[in-house]
Amino acid sequence: MKGETRVNHPPTVEVPADNHPVVAPVYQTVKFEFDTVEDTLKALRGERPGFFYARSSNPTTRQLELTLAALQGRDDCLVCASGVGVIAQTLLSLTRAEDHVLCFVESYGPTRQLIRRILGKYGVAHSLLSIEDLAGIETLLAARATRLVLFESPTNPVNRIADIAAITRLARAHGALTVMDNTFAGVHQHGRYDVDLYLHSLTKYVAGHGDVMGGAVIGETRLIRSLRPDFTVLGGILDPHAAFLIQRGLKSYFVRYRAQSETALRIAQFLAAHPSVERVRYPGLASDPQHALARSQMSDFGAIVSFDLRGGASHAQLFAEALQLFAMTPSLGATESLVMPPQLLGSRDLSEEQQRLSGVGPGTVRLSIGLEDVGDLLSDIEQALAAAHPA
Ligand SMILES: Cc1ncc(COP(=O)(O)O)c(C=O)c1O
Repeated sequence: MKGETRVNHPPTVEVPADNHPVVAPVYQTVKFEFDTVEDTLKALRGERPGFFYARSSNPTTRQLELTLAALQGRDDCLVCASGVGVIAQTLLSLTRAEDHVLCFVESYGPTRQLIRRILGKYGVAHSLLSIEDLAGIETLLAARATRLVLFESPTNPVNRIADIAAITRLARAHGALTVMDNTFAGVHQHGRYDVDLYLHSLTKYVAGHGDVMGGAVIGETRLIRSLRPDFTVLGGILDPHAAFLIQRGLKSYFVRYRAQSETALRIAQFLAAHPSVERVRYPGLASDPQHALARSQMSDFGAIVSFDLRGGASHAQLFAEALQLFAMTPSLGATESLVMPPQLLGSRDLSEEQQRLSGVGPGTVRLSIGLEDVGDLLSDIEQALAAAHPA
């Protein structure tokens, strides 16, 4: 075999069937082959196991999908290149012209933009309510045939809690699918509710280290199987190396989520007692207006602490800029603490009234608490509050 041939046909290294790698290898390959056309066709028809082309599936991404499905308490999962990617592909696959979608003023901004701009272009209508408006949800679902209800809990950025049992009951009664973006609560929570599909940005708590992006949709086999052909042609797949990094991040998921939640509660308690702070939203805080509902739904309350600083936007900006241990950047759920530039929390696509309903005010600040020492974080927050409100 000449060099030109050898480099394209490297020697096969077989691992004996009784000799197992402790960490699964990364299948960094686009293609898989069978020896016969018959086996190829059987695999494509689902009549035998095997892989063919990585845009449909790959063992490394499949391992991640099965792990995530098990954590969320469902049968199956599809992963994508980002959280927004999985939201887009799921919505494009589930809806058609003249359908109606219900989402919320508290929903993640790009989700609302997707529904308004992309689905709207293809003739899908939508309504926006507040996630707390159960009476409005009931009236709307009774009045208008609705394909799906897309909601989050806790919501981004102000940690409102959706009443999941009530929303899923109303949707089921009126024949609408429920699609829950469960990114904030994580893959270990909310699995006992009658939610049809869970969406996750894996970029956040699941990967956890801020170095890789991904998204997942999780549900029962029948629904996931119905999405699969559309996902294959929409093509926003997760690379196997990214899947490997996410799978690696997952090993410390529970330890991270719980440690970050514990520190976040301490910080929320500190903020709630501080004179420069008007209002704190953290579902684990006993004084949070939705604490009882959050406690009935969640075991861990997450790393996000939102609060309103007295004095509005200029003080929020001073506070964010004065923080030393919090990177001023988007995203959340990473090992390092983050503060979102406060001016970016509001949404330009909402009317003034919708903006008011969404709970984001001029002085709203969103912190994502990492794994640093709680004392160091509290000292940093204290000095930044002093810088925002000099005596
Ligand atoms: C609730 C929620 N869903 C989805 C996303 C989008 O995820 P990604 O950044 O991985 O596309 C985010 C990102 O912040 C989010 O907060």
